Amino acid sequence: MEFTCLNRKALILVTVLCNFIMVSSLEVGFYSQTCPNAESIVSTVVQEALSAEQTVAAELLRLHFHDCFVEGCDGSILIDNGDDQEKNAFGHQGVGGFNIIEKAKARLEQVCPATVSCADIVALAARDAVVLSNGPSYEVLTGRRDGLVSNKSLANEMPEVNDSIQLLRSKFQKKGLNDKDLVLLSAAHTIGTTACFFMQKRLYEFPPHGGSDPSINPALLPDLKSMCPKGGNSERLPLDPGSERIFDDHILGNIKNGFGVIESDARLYDDSVTKRIIDAYVGIANIRGKALFNRDFAAAMVKMGLIGVKSGSDGEIRRVCNAFN
Ligand code: HEM
Ligand SMILES: *[C@@H]1O[C@H](CO)[C@@H](O)[C@H](O)[C@H]1NC(C)=O
Ligand SMILES: *[C@@H]1O[C@H](CO)[C@@H](O)[C@H](O)[C@H]1NC(C)=O
Repeated sequence: MEFTCLNRKALILVTVLCNFIMVSSLEVGFYSQTCPNAESIVSTVVQEALSAEQTVAAELLRLHFHDCFVEGCDGSILIDNGDDQEKNAFGHQGVGGFNIIEKAKARLEQVCPATVSCADIVALAARDAVVLSNGPSYEVLTGRRDGLVSNKSLANEMPEVNDSIQLLRSKFQKKGLNDKDLVLLSAAHTIGTTACFFMQKRLYEFPPHGGSDPSINPALLPDLKSMCPKGGNSERLPLDPGSERIFDDHILGNIKNGFGVIESDARLYDDSVTKRIIDAYVGIANIRGKALFNRDFAAAMVKMGLIGVKSGSDGEIRRVCNAFN
């Protein structure tokens, strides 16, 4: 099937059709015959982890994003195989949740050995983390296979906190994600925290004149500075001040009002297109608006979960998530 699609790439219509066919090689409930409890096992493990430490919800959500943006959603970020491993890439700093994925994998191996991919566990765990943070539920397409490559040199396409809106947009476009997806997926910052490491430039050396980013609301700036002193690195502060544990659309209002914490979120309000998208969600400040945001976020997550997926006989099903078979 892949071969046919490559041959016909010149025909836009056919390419669209081929993309659709390749995409549809994932399906909801891929393990319903081979491992009927796969999804409930993953969600139990995520639930256990969250009841011990609620902050890992954000880690699991972020992990899926970082997995998908390098080599596709194929578990390449999970591998431990030396200095060159993808996990060590600069752009993956602070990514976590690996032990939870490994724990789910171990339980799955007991029940249905060599069946459920680590890439699918990552995708399912991200969904469960959203649900358990009070966010929307959605069906996860499954059937991903695990990748055979993990190298930090492949992580150059990770969006960076100091990227311009144009660069963020083009990095997302390269993955098949549009401006609306960029806004909605950035809204994942409704939960979780950032290390002060990522705030230094924005607070103290903002180009071109130094000092702090003028787009930070003056009512927030002193707080940010006291939580993140100059030279501070490992202190952590909420990405969505006031609502960092609940998954909701509060972050978009924060971004609109200059209360966005990391620079890439703030940049979304500099551009007329992404600004309009934010304004549209913030403008419907009622239950219908929240439902719309939830629905659209879920759709964007499903789309992100399809980036570069391997299926059929590509890749492998790992026995453990941090090593190739
Ligand atoms: C638009 C490009 C993006 C940039 C530049 C970006 C950057 C960052 C940075 C710098 C942090 C702080 C990391 C730390 O200190 O541990 C962070 C945290 C986080 N990011 Fe993003 N991010 C982006 C998009 C996304 C997307 C698409 C998702 C998921 C759909 C996501 C989910 C998260 C979550 C949940 C956290 C909190 C992690 C925690 O509390 O441990 N981010 N992001
Ligand atoms: C990772 O990629 C670099 C650059 O292409 C290469 O030199 C290195 O050998 C690779 N490492 C592994 C373990 O494959
Ligand atoms: C963002 O920061 C990284 C690391 O400090 C740097 O390499 C890169 O050039 C910066 N990008 C921009 C657009 O300033």
